[in-house]
Amino acid sequence: MKSLLSIEQLTAVQISSLLESAADLKRQRGREEQPLAGQTWAMIFTKSSTRTRVSFEVGIRELGGFPMFLSGNDIQLGRGEPIKDTARVLGRMVHGAVIRTFAQQDVVDFAEFSGIPTINALTDDEHPCQILADLLTIQEKHGSWEGKKVAFIGDGFSNMTRSWMWAAKRLGFELAVASPASCQPPVEFLAELDAPNVTITESPAVAATGAHVINTDVWLSMGQEGQQEKELEFAGFQVEAGLLAHAAPGHIVLHCLPAYRGKEISEEVLELHAETIFQQAENRLHAQKAVLVSLAR
Ligand code: CP
Ligand code: NVA
Repeated sequence: MKSLLSIEQLTAVQISSLLESAADLKRQRGREEQPLAGQTWAMIFTKSSTRTRVSFEVGIRELGGFPMFLSGNDIQLGRGEPIKDTARVLGRMVHGAVIRTFAQQDVVDFAEFSGIPTINALTDDEHPCQILADLLTIQEKHGSWEGKKVAFIGDGFSNMTRSWMWAAKRLGFELAVASPASCQPPVEFLAELDAPNVTITESPAVAATGAHVINTDVWLSMGQEGQQEKELEFAGFQVEAGLLAHAAPGHIVLHCLPAYRGKEISEEVLELHAETIFQQAENRLHAQKAVLVSLAR
């Protein structure tokens, strides 16, 4: 693996090996090897972040490297310098890059033109680092995703859902996505995905029935803040106690955070499942260190 640009591009073997390494790194924290010693990694963010920024800065340091945070607004990229020129400059100076931005093509182009390991830290299409942390959390809580049903309640075609659908395709677990009709994945995407284990419904109760994992995310992703009419479509899609009554005994609740209580999740459910949800947030650090180790050269 030269870069981590999407879950779509990963194989089941690569995902399993990253998670095995993440679990090892979690156990060895403070005693890990230093594969990034002497290296500088650029972190280019054109969208807000708490978890991703902090976990990458800490993770790069813990592996011996130096993280260099570059806000998209402060570098010339924000004034229109093309991503391929930014990539060709940074590729001659730094050893790797972590990028959070809008267009997936920008991280693809950065990887190509820089020639250095590039990590997608969230685009409009995918959030691969988050899904690796989520899978690690499922492994820790349920032993494995094998034989488990995962429900995703919310925006059926966000970066999170798309990455989850690719994870289900690669790993074979049952994924039920409940989403308003207007936010469901288009038929062309589902044809390309070609995964009979992924089902789409307009009924949160149908998706949640028998689920071992109930997962949700914001209704309006970054960049969609002004789309109040989209938010209205989600009436009845809140993850709340009544919905969880349909889930399997011992189910867990995941939320990638930040959460909007009273919208996609109730205060009661978030606090009841806070231990899992913040373990999931911590796992960003361990999963991303595994990615960094696999890309170090
Ligand atoms: N879940 C996640 O990516 O959080 P941040 O936006 O805070 O990085
Ligand atoms: N779908 C959300 C994820 C935030 C971590 C967004 O893109 O804003």
